[in-house]
Amino acid sequence: MNLIERRKQVLGRHVTTFYDDPFAPVRGDGVWLYDADGKRYLDCYNNVPHVGHCHPKVVKAIADQAATLNVHTRYVHEGVVAYGEKLASKFKHDLSTMIMVNSGSEANDIALRMAQAVSGNTGVIGTDNTYHGNTASVSQLNATKVPVGGYADHVRQVPSPDNLHPVGGTRAGQAQAFAAGVEVAIAELQAAGHGVSALIICPYFANEGFPTLERGFMDQAIACVRRAGGLIIADEVQPGFGRIGSHWWGHEKLGFVPDIVTLGKPMANGHPVAAVITRHDVLEAFQDAFKYFNTFGGNPVSAAAAMATMNVIEDESLVENACVVGAYALKELSSLADKHELLADVRGSGLFFGAELVCDGKPATDICLKVVNEMRRNGVLLSTVGRFENALKVRPPCVFSKENVDQLVDVMDHAIAQVLADE
Ligand SMILES: Cc1ncc(COP(=O)(O)O)c(C=O)c1O
Repeated sequence: MNLIERRKQVLGRHVTTFYDDPFAPVRGDGVWLYDADGKRYLDCYNNVPHVGHCHPKVVKAIADQAATLNVHTRYVHEGVVAYGEKLASKFKHDLSTMIMVNSGSEANDIALRMAQAVSGNTGVIGTDNTYHGNTASVSQLNATKVPVGGYADHVRQVPSPDNLHPVGGTRAGQAQAFAAGVEVAIAELQAAGHGVSALIICPYFANEGFPTLERGFMDQAIACVRRAGGLIIADEVQPGFGRIGSHWWGHEKLGFVPDIVTLGKPMANGHPVAAVITRHDVLEAFQDAFKYFNTFGGNPVSAAAAMATMNVIEDESLVENACVVGAYALKELSSLADKHELLADVRGSGLFFGAELVCDGKPATDICLKVVNEMRRNGVLLSTVGRFENALKVRPPCVFSKENVDQLVDVMDHAIAQVLADE
């Protein structure tokens, strides 16, 4: 039995794989992934290896700490405290305390409970095209799969912002229309007796298809939530740690102040580390309301991996790199859009960008998938996103260079031509 069949047997038929011909890398280095035959692929998709696959400094930090000490989190250890201080220094607005966990899902689960503890309410608002993780409570927010028994009554989904199909019909009126959706949700939650504990959003609306939003976009919606006694949770699992180039965090780019921030994926370059960042008063309310202990969250090896990743981001100026290379990529992609009408909307910030594909006025979902598969055959890995899965999503390790952009755009150009010729 080959590896794919064995995988299905032991992990189940629905465990996701990308591409018609599933990819099985055996080695990674910087922006490159290698298959068993030694073929090299340009990784334009993976945000977890934020500072590059197998960065030697992160690998060494993990190995050194694993060879020295790794224990559960009831002992006092310099590493986790030092990392918490370092991470908190990257935030403003009294966001100065941290709980370290093992996944973004866990971080969001805690964030939701923090909001309950502070507000005394249980109602939660998310968007209608999102994903925030896989715990029982967080998966209630998953827009693409209805939970067994239907969505819980304390959860409301509001229309998510979009470039080509803006909420309310126009880009100019989108912020107001988004806030109107939030107001409806608040009224429903209050009428049902749940009240509002939190609005949880990714401040880059990454899973929604990363629409282009102006600074201040969230202000009206946030004001409504705060009036109702709710908290604002910024899920920075995707935009965080400088990927968007202009800022370290998505909420800074949109210009709002969250009560709670959740972090994950890129935080330790692949070692499973995530965190919740919040104010002292919120942390205390949570600790008063819930018994909470985490065996692995914030163990010495995880803290070492996270600290090494943070140091590399700073030492190699990767936020600045995301800004410069991302701007170049948008320019090159826009030129490609002049050539291929199919690329109807090019957008993004830093090293999180892409293009939405439209054909005859309709989302070009099938074509988009074919382009992704054709690019994979030609050594470039990326994926799709958006309500109709018709946007090419590029989100590479932040060591991505202008030369890498040139290869990406060149391969995309040929893939589009090939797919359209085959249609
Ligand atoms: C926005 C967002 N939040 C949270 C999560 C969950 O993170 P994890 O898979 O580490 O639990 C994801 C995962 O894709 C995500 O995209």
